[in-house]
Amino acid sequence: MPAELPYQNPALPVERRVDDLLARMSLPEKVGQMLQLDARNDVKEIVSEKLAGSILHTSPAKMLEAIDLVAKTRLQIPLLVAEDCIHGHSFWPGATIFPTQLAMAATWDPALLERVARVSALEVAATGIHQTFSPVLCIARDLRWGRIDETFGEDPFLIGELGSAMIRGYQGGGLSDPTGILATAKHFAGYSETQGGRDASEADISPRKLRSWFLPPFERVAREGCQVFMLGYQSMDGVPITANRWLLNDVLKEEWGFSGTLVTDWDNVGRMVWEQKVCADYAEAAAVAVRAGNDLVMVTPGFFEGAQEAVARGLLTEAEIDAAVRRILRLKFEMGLFENPRAPDAQRQREVIGIAEHADLNLEVARRSLVLLRNDGVLPLEDDRFRRIAVIGPNADDPSAQLGDWAGNSGQVDWMPDGHPREMIETVLDGFRRVAPENWDITHARGADIERLVPDPDGDTYPDGQPRPPISQAAPVDSHLISLARDEAIRADYAVVVVGDTVNLTGEHKSTATLELQGGQIALLDAVAATRTPMIVVLLDSKPCVLPPSALNAAAIIQAFNPGMLGGRAIAELVLGLIEPSGRMPLSVPRHVGQQPVYYNQIRGQHGTRYADLTQDPLFVFGEGLSYTTVEYSDLSVSNEQIGQDGMIEARLTLTNTGTRPSLETIQAYVSDLVTSVTWAVRELKAYRQVTVPAGRSVTVEIELPAAACTLVTADGRRVVEPGDFELLVGPSSRESDLLRAPFRIG
Ligand code: NOJ
Repeated sequence: MPAELPYQNPALPVERRVDDLLARMSLPEKVGQMLQLDARNDVKEIVSEKLAGSILHTSPAKMLEAIDLVAKTRLQIPLLVAEDCIHGHSFWPGATIFPTQLAMAATWDPALLERVARVSALEVAATGIHQTFSPVLCIARDLRWGRIDETFGEDPFLIGELGSAMIRGYQGGGLSDPTGILATAKHFAGYSETQGGRDASEADISPRKLRSWFLPPFERVAREGCQVFMLGYQSMDGVPITANRWLLNDVLKEEWGFSGTLVTDWDNVGRMVWEQKVCADYAEAAAVAVRAGNDLVMVTPGFFEGAQEAVARGLLTEAEIDAAVRRILRLKFEMGLFENPRAPDAQRQREVIGIAEHADLNLEVARRSLVLLRNDGVLPLEDDRFRRIAVIGPNADDPSAQLGDWAGNSGQVDWMPDGHPREMIETVLDGFRRVAPENWDITHARGADIERLVPDPDGDTYPDGQPRPPISQAAPVDSHLISLARDEAIRADYAVVVVGDTVNLTGEHKSTATLELQGGQIALLDAVAATRTPMIVVLLDSKPCVLPPSALNAAAIIQAFNPGMLGGRAIAELVLGLIEPSGRMPLSVPRHVGQQPVYYNQIRGQHGTRYADLTQDPLFVFGEGLSYTTVEYSDLSVSNEQIGQDGMIEARLTLTNTGTRPSLETIQAYVSDLVTSVTWAVRELKAYRQVTVPAGRSVTVEIELPAAACTLVTADGRRVVEPGDFELLVGPSSRESDLLRAPFRIG
């Protein structure tokens, strides 16, 4: 039977259908289509009165209600349903929760992350959600920022590799693939350049600085066809990101050819009125946002009236609204939502959510994400004799420390007060009990508390309506807990001490003033260290911590970040030598909070190399990580020392495993441009390869990188290759002393 109206006819071209539907829509229907509203509120009002085109934070029950309500609207335009499924299907009870994005970045493995995103998409798509607000392509700068855990770390090239892979995984076979979900590259752009780590503070950032470090990952995924970009929150040089026509129009759309959909961040349009105070009212703010090129307006209900008033007052034309609505409708048509709104599918959910195959992948990525930072030889604990291991610390048996932010009861949604099912999560304690030899004794003591939660005196919600979390105050040192832990450590052959932070010290609005371990944790580490039982420190934290001497002098340190549902098992396997350590740091770690920022690709030129009272050297550097063997890097050569700008630099080197265990090496190739027309980074990662070097063997590794990648950004903002002399630096980390050098020249 033929469809009734042209826009309902799937046989017609998309543009024809968009034209037809747009011509039928009233101004309120058009403005409503631009709204992406918070479904924790009254869904009836959202769908039937505000006529919203999109919703987010939708509980399973509200999802069904919303679908019913859409069926009763005049034009029955399907909803676009979005959620923050940023390391798995965050808020679906029983879904697979992977390590955080930062933890996954430590794998340096795009193919693995593509599989993670594919699996996430399968689980998400079965539940009626069409869009994930992932991946984050912000670069980590000041580690006090609360959202470091959501990034892929500090390097633009690595971010581009991993972000691109996750987008491919999410999108699957493309817009029309019902097992795919829309990926959202965020937060465009410059949001992570904070002041003092404070969230969404004005970013002191020039267009050139943006182009140099912040834009490259976004440019890459825009050119590769990522369909949705989300804005940040910050303003730059006085211009709120939502009003930044230069960035949204001139750069993103015109220069990079982005033809997808833009979504603001949470109440960005309202913020221009009540927070940044650059617009007198919602009509002005709506006009500014639409004129700058925004499409979906996230959680600014007042945009509905504001945009209509803007048209009435002549601040905005209906044609300008049409342009945005056209992009939203086109997306919905191209996804086939009019024919198949991709509603929740209970049968499919049973087939894909939290299944064993996904758990296997979760364990694989957790294993790969662990970074062994120190080892005096104590690890792996391979021993045939009876052993007693004391698993100590506030994060040793804490499910939420495994999952980190944006998962279950981490604070963003209201329908999972108890978080994810406990039986799906293996803490470090669970992990040891599961994989240690049966006759070993695994004991446990909490040892310390991290925090006490107290109500925020400013109230339960922020002005934008988001819940205001309780304040985390450092817990006092509890001498009773410490003495129990000390006793366990004394009785044990090894003490595994699991310390870190909590979700209350992580996330939006939750930047930290320090990077130190909070509460009784330093006293606990000191006490366990004093027992002289070999101590293995495991860091289960959202972002790197500054470590006290007792931790730095421990027999071993493992950086785990938030390693996901099965991370505890992976950690136990690593300690017991059942797997090889292979993670590499996706960011550099300071010795002291005042050293920040410590990212490796600093600009050349400053007086001296140290503070008067402290070295400038980071404690651990980007790219660093140990294995259970020693691998020597030698004989770096470049086959073509003189190349054209369109040529390839072909390098070769030898890796020799001088130990008795295999190693998965991440061979990193940095480039240093020796003389530049502007000050530029001391070196930049341009390529890397992951190669397994079997015990006792040598392998030859070839690395290629295009000369066209050896760019800088000129004083007037152009990215170019400046012909001249360069150096290729290859090695197992970004630390200067780890790198072999070979000269080459671009003609
Ligand atoms: C605000 C956050 O900045 C953004 O990353 C997230 O996707 C939205 N809220 C939706 O929850």
